[in-house]
Amino acid sequence: MTLRPMNIDPAFCFIGGAWVAPQSGQSLPLINPSDGTQLCEIARGQGDDIHAAVAAAEAALAGDWGKATAAERGRILAAIGRAVLTHVDHLAELEAMDVGKPLKQARADVLALARYLEFYGGAADKLHGETIPYLDGYTVYTLREPHGVTGHIIPWNYPMQIIGRSIGAALAMGNACVLKPAEEACLTALAFAQIAHDAGLPAGALNVVPGLGAEAGAALTAHSGVHHISFTGSVGVGRLIQQTAATHIVPVTLELGGKSPQVVFEDADLDAALPFLVNAGIQNAGQTCSASSRILVHHKVYDEVVEKMASRYSALRAGPAMADLDVGPLVSDRQRDIVQGFLDQGKDLTMAAQGKVVDEAPAGGAYCAPTLFTDVAPEHCLAQDEIFGPVQVVIPFDDEAQAIEIANGTDFGLVASIWSRDGARQMRMAKALRAGQVFVNNYGAGGGVELPFGGTGLSGHGREKGFEALYGFSMLKTVAAYHG
Ligand code: NAI
Ligand code: MG
Repeated sequence: MTLRPMNIDPAFCFIGGAWVAPQSGQSLPLINPSDGTQLCEIARGQGDDIHAAVAAAEAALAGDWGKATAAERGRILAAIGRAVLTHVDHLAELEAMDVGKPLKQARADVLALARYLEFYGGAADKLHGETIPYLDGYTVYTLREPHGVTGHIIPWNYPMQIIGRSIGAALAMGNACVLKPAEEACLTALAFAQIAHDAGLPAGALNVVPGLGAEAGAALTAHSGVHHISFTGSVGVGRLIQQTAATHIVPVTLELGGKSPQVVFEDADLDAALPFLVNAGIQNAGQTCSASSRILVHHKVYDEVVEKMASRYSALRAGPAMADLDVGPLVSDRQRDIVQGFLDQGKDLTMAAQGKVVDEAPAGGAYCAPTLFTDVAPEHCLAQDEIFGPVQVVIPFDDEAQAIEIANGTDFGLVASIWSRDGARQMRMAKALRAGQVFVNNYGAGGGVELPFGGTGLSGHGREKGFEALYGFSMLKTVAAYHG
């Protein structure tokens, strides 16, 4: 296969509908985490390139894109979604090699991207304003308007899914986007820009500037021409972005990961729960914002759940993305070192089971064996901090009140799930759990395209996905007309 996304030179930025070299002329190496080799070079975009991208977005808003009707925007998004579906294999291979994710996960991500475009294409002309009864002699109504230029800083774990939810919703509302993909993985962002362009997206409606966070990312956040920032990534960078956005009083949507629990009660259908308990922790090698890294289990079924989870863990295999096993490498040596640091801090814990890195895995890859710890104290750092690797902890509890206390006992609040056959308990727990999404007898690992998603506490604020995202990517204007 060719590494060149859509036959594009990956060391370019996509600005104003054209491929342009970064103004500094510099590039960055893009590493294949399955074997540690260099895949290609990408552009090292900086402030000048961000400035050019914002100017191109402004020109699009003043031109064809700004004049497009909601129905026309929807039709274009739907066409992009269909175009994505004609490139499933190529996009999946690019994503698998770039991120290190098993090919089947990469394929699922392409399909999710297409589905986001289909959903937001359909939604573009369905968000209506209201008329508001007011004083005699007035007619009052509301208009939903785009913010203008929106900045999108995305991570490396699910580039295509996050492009779908973020760019899809922003374009549906008529914004023009500047996308800064992660330096660890940006091939599908580049490929997507070309696909969208070929499918009819007007020049400048989507601009992509790869580069480092501290350079291109910081420049995008600080740019006075950007009217909304959406960010998915670490808490530390989220904090910086919110601070910088405060300079221009720009709204931000922050999705900063979590420490999401699954709570297993004594009356749960354990056979139904088991695949979700493990998969939600090891999917994408645990590098998922909505990964379930804490499993809380009632003491009556504790031994059984631990035994079943341990036997699954022992069978897990980690290997190169293209081998399409249960788990790929982590995205980078740096991420592997972060996760190894947590494993070192877990040395005194009970390790119930560990999967294997296959013998064929190249020595230069960023592999980490999936690891299950049991009897972990809720205050231990492995039960408190986001690990972002294939590591789960199991914590026992005695009753509902204690389960709620432990489940809510971290600084995060993104996703939670309840496993129980008791309907009243399901509803009590769904209300009591501190999370932006609660699943009952399933775990959606971020949920579907249609389901509003986002967190509270250190998990961030604002909602993406579903119809709800359209409110965030637009501004409400109230018009009060006096006519006597
Ligand atoms: P990060 O937050 O540094 O990177 C995410 C994005 O932010 C990248 O595009 C990066 O270039 C950009 N960025 C970095 N510094 C920036 C700055 N000063 N201004 C603007 N943009 C900036 O995350 P990183 O270092 O890749 O991963 C570290 C940890 O963050 C992970 O171990 C994990 O715990 C968490 N994380 C959470 C994610 C989620 O889905 N919620 C995704 C990625 C990381
Ligand atoms: Mg970073």
